[in-house]
Amino acid sequence: MLLLQPLIGLLLISLAHGDCPILISPVDVVVEYGDSFSANCSSTDETIQFGLSWEGYDKTMKKTEDDIFVDVTNWEMNLTCYMYSNKTKCSQGLPVTIYKTPDSVSISIVNHTGPMIEGQQYELQCDIYNVAPVQELTVKWYKGQTLLNQTTFTEDNKSPVNETATLQIRPDRADDGAQYRCEAELDLGEDGPQYPTESLQPLSAELHYKPKHSSSTETIIKNDEVTLNCTVKANPAPTYTWHSEHLKEEISSSVLQSPTLSPGNYTCTATNSLGSDSKVFIIESKESRCPIQLIPRRAVVRYGDSVAVNCSATVPHKGLGWEASEGGVPMTRDKNMITWTVSHLTEWDIQPFCYINHEEQCQVQLPVTIYKTPDSVSISIVDHRGPMIEGQQYKLQCDVHDVAPVQNLTVKWYKGQTLLDKTTFTEDSKTPLNETATLLIRPDRADDGAQYRCEAELELGAEGPQPPPKETSEPLNITVYYAPKIPFCDSWSPLTGTSLDSYPLNLDSVVGNPRPNISWRHKASSVNSSMRLTKFDSGQYEIIASNDLSDFNCSVNITVEYPPELNCSETYEVKEETLFEFPCIADGLPKPEFSLYKNGKTIQRELFSPNWNDSGRYQLTAENPHGTINSTFTINILHAPVFYASQEDFHVKEDSNLTLECNSTGNPEPEMWLSFNNKTISTGRRHITLNIERATSTNAGVYTCSAANKFGSKEKRFIVKIRDDSPSNFPFVVLVLILLLVFIIFIVVILILRQKKNKTGHYEVQSGKEFEMRPLSNGGPE
Ligand SMILES: *[C@@H]1O[C@H](CO)[C@@H](O)[C@H](O)[C@H]1NC(C)=O
Ligand SMILES: *[C@@H]1O[C@H](CO)[C@@H](O)[C@H](O)[C@H]1NC(C)=O
Ligand SMILES: *[C@@H]1O[C@H](CO)[C@@H](O)[C@H](O)[C@H]1NC(C)=O
Ligand SMILES: *[C@@H]1O[C@H](CO)[C@@H](O)[C@H](O)[C@H]1NC(C)=O
Ligand SMILES: *[C@@H]1O[C@H](CO)[C@@H](O)[C@H](O)[C@H]1NC(C)=O
Ligand SMILES: *[C@@H]1O[C@H](CO)[C@@H](O)[C@H](O)[C@H]1NC(C)=O
Ligand SMILES: *[C@@H]1O[C@H](CO)[C@@H](O)[C@H](O)[C@H]1NC(C)=O
Ligand SMILES: *[C@@H]1O[C@H](CO)[C@@H](O)[C@H](O)[C@H]1NC(C)=O
Ligand SMILES: *[C@@H]1O[C@H](CO)[C@@H](O)[C@H](O)[C@H]1NC(C)=O
Ligand SMILES: *[C@@H]1O[C@H](CO)[C@@H](O)[C@H](O)[C@H]1NC(C)=O
Ligand SMILES: *[C@@H]1O[C@H](CO)[C@@H](O)[C@H](O)[C@H]1NC(C)=O
Repeated sequence: MLLLQPLIGLLLISLAHGDCPILISPVDVVVEYGDSFSANCSSTDETIQFGLSWEGYDKTMKKTEDDIFVDVTNWEMNLTCYMYSNKTKCSQGLPVTIYKTPDSVSISIVNHTGPMIEGQQYELQCDIYNVAPVQELTVKWYKGQTLLNQTTFTEDNKSPVNETATLQIRPDRADDGAQYRCEAELDLGEDGPQYPTESLQPLSAELHYKPKHSSSTETIIKNDEVTLNCTVKANPAPTYTWHSEHLKEEISSSVLQSPTLSPGNYTCTATNSLGSDSKVFIIESKESRCPIQLIPRRAVVRYGDSVAVNCSATVPHKGLGWEASEGGVPMTRDKNMITWTVSHLTEWDIQPFCYINHEEQCQVQLPVTIYKTPDSVSISIVDHRGPMIEGQQYKLQCDVHDVAPVQNLTVKWYKGQTLLDKTTFTEDSKTPLNETATLLIRPDRADDGAQYRCEAELELGAEGPQPPPKETSEPLNITVYYAPKIPFCDSWSPLTGTSLDSYPLNLDSVVGNPRPNISWRHKASSVNSSMRLTKFDSGQYEIIASNDLSDFNCSVNITVEYPPELNCSETYEVKEETLFEFPCIADGLPKPEFSLYKNGKTIQRELFSPNWNDSGRYQLTAENPHGTINSTFTINILHAPVFYASQEDFHVKEDSNLTLECNSTGNPEPEMWLSFNNKTISTGRRHITLNIERATSTNAGVYTCSAANKFGSKEKRFIVKIRDDSPSNFPFVVLVLILLLVFIIFIVVILILRQKKNKTGHYEVQSGKEFEMRPLSNGGPE
């Protein structure tokens, strides 16, 4: 058939779309499930004849010419506008994004109920129900008004899914009472939803933490009345106890307030279920403030290093001295400044003080912090070896050996250069300890190859070394295995001879670790992918990507394209004015376009209904993007007889000669006969000539020439009129006529005697048999 059938599907997608003169309005659609939209398809090039059609609509859609009206009740929508013209055939898809806001969003803590404990790690979970499309979903985590982090999703799914996002938190005391919530946001531009969906109820974090005073000592100068306020925040609320050599018994109260308190040390301890913290209040009388200055006021010394602290008297004195288990200075009267020095400080619990004698003896204690950097810092995975699996939870452990003081230690966790978390320690120890910090991780594919490390830092305050000493572990390289996936499994139209290995699957379109093996299946059996496809191999194929974790398969429609093929006979017989359908078994994908030529000239491209005079040699060309092929054949037109034009009306004088010529053509060659007065006077094929000599009135009348073959018959009439020109003088005329008649009878008798065999007298008939056939295409019809 020459009629271009709408070529469905992907045959055309491979054709250029860049210069496709199609305009779809709007260019893309963002619509909520259940809503409706409409779209136009038009051509920007009005100079070419074209047909436009939408593909991919179904019975839920209404269609008028080039517009479609769609009620969105289907998650999968592939709308394509195709255009056909004598110049081009191409298509353009209309991207339709269908969204659905979540039915609900809720936040919870994974595997935990009740209050959280400061410093421990928890996992928050946000459940989003029934949302689409998940690849445009962002889950935002908030603590109060602060955005903590956001999660996006790598799945690709058009229909609604339930999703779970998680967030690791390690709350501290400032987070007690904080409200955590998550929000699900679909970012689809101005046609999409404008507001995020919030979690139904925020999660109020109740946090348990132990008491910790902001400073461990406080010196108070005694006035009339002294208030010692030990109140400290903790949850559960702490209980308080006071000890002092000046108190007869232990006192339980947060505040100690009395004019009777004497100078000296009062220690209060705040305790709750998680631990306790003590604070020393030193009450000094105004007079008894010790006139001594220590420089520096506090010593921070690396274990084994040297230390030197000056003690100066600020008033005249009767003696000044240092007392310490090492480096003490005996009391001296003649110096205003003495120095406590130790060249290798190795005593963890040294407590030196400087004393002075003036009105009475007083002393000032030097706080000494002895630190030791860790012998080693190492990172490891707890109870696991080998690659990790995406989405599973693992525990990393950081071991810090032999470090002091641990209350100044911070372990920082890094992934690459990113600080993930910090761990601090609450033990109180002057001597070195081994410490272990842990971190829960749930790696995803992006973390494959990531380097985790931990860093132990000693934060020793302003008197300590700057920058604070730190020790880093060797990096821990993690390998994350994840299941294979083929996100794009597009239909494919290769040329015959191509192998499946050429299917465009690359690093971007196949994911999976370890790298998945690709195999193919067709008609339920596996296919060697290096096999070359033939035109009989079109169909549904399955691509299977498999690795150690799982298999993923997707279905792909393969249409093997091939150049046109023609299989034409040498000759065709066609009845005139019937549609000539190309009989050649013409094949090819994409379906070829045909052209028919005669004598180098194009015949109508689509419908060819030949005339009776169209017999001859023809050339048929079939063309598709993969090639062109020609075939030449003869078309022989079968047709009813046709008369050639000739003189039909004869108006002659008596005695004139005249010739009736009746020429016809037909295929098959027609039978012809000529009749006069209902008598056949001549027969022939193609050609009858009747010569009438010396016509008389008896020759006048209607002669009918007939031609017939199996496709029909035709008649042609010849009208012969004889004119009488003799004078009208009757008697003379009658006489002459009588004489003439007698003479004629005489002559006739003689002629009859002479020509007995010639029955018809004056007719001379030539039959067409004696003439050559004319070429079919010559001459015009009657
Ligand atoms: C479709 O085209 C008509 C005119 O060509 C225009 O008025 C109408 O807004 C178009 N509809 C859409 C959905 O673009
Ligand atoms: C396509 O058809 C248009 C209108 O009939 C005509 O002007 C144009 O030349 C044709 N183009 C080709 C490539 O045949
Ligand atoms: C947000 O979460 C990602 C993945 O869990 C993490 O890599 C990133 O550091 C987090 N960002 C912040 C600011 O916490
Ligand atoms: C989502 O969760 C709801 C409630 O648990 C369930 O009814 C629904 O089938 C789930 N939807 C999908 C796509 O898994
Ligand atoms: C003790 O301190 C707390 C907070 O630090 C304060 O709320 C409270 O009023 C103080 N008590 C007295 C008696 O001053
Ligand atoms: C710390 O660990 C090391 C090695 O395991 C051990 O020799 C040392 O005694 C430990 N120190 C303490 C204080 O436990
Ligand atoms: C697939 O076919 C190629 C050649 O066509 C051959 O070399 C290869 O061994 C075959 N592979 C399998 C697994 O049969
Ligand atoms: C492809 O996946 C479907 C559903 O996941 C499964 O039923 C089918 O067996 C798989 N085919 C192969 C060849 O693995
Ligand atoms: C063939 O016949 C048709 C119709 O009978 C006529 O119009 C046409 O001119 C003819 N062609 C030739 C080449 O005689
Ligand atoms: C087919 O015929 C056309 C027109 O005569 C010619 O241009 C072309 O080269 C031919 N192609 C082949 C493959 O013979
Ligand atoms: C009829 O056919 C004869 C023989 O071919 C030819 O000589 C004659 O000219 C034809 N007459 C007409 C009118 O075509």
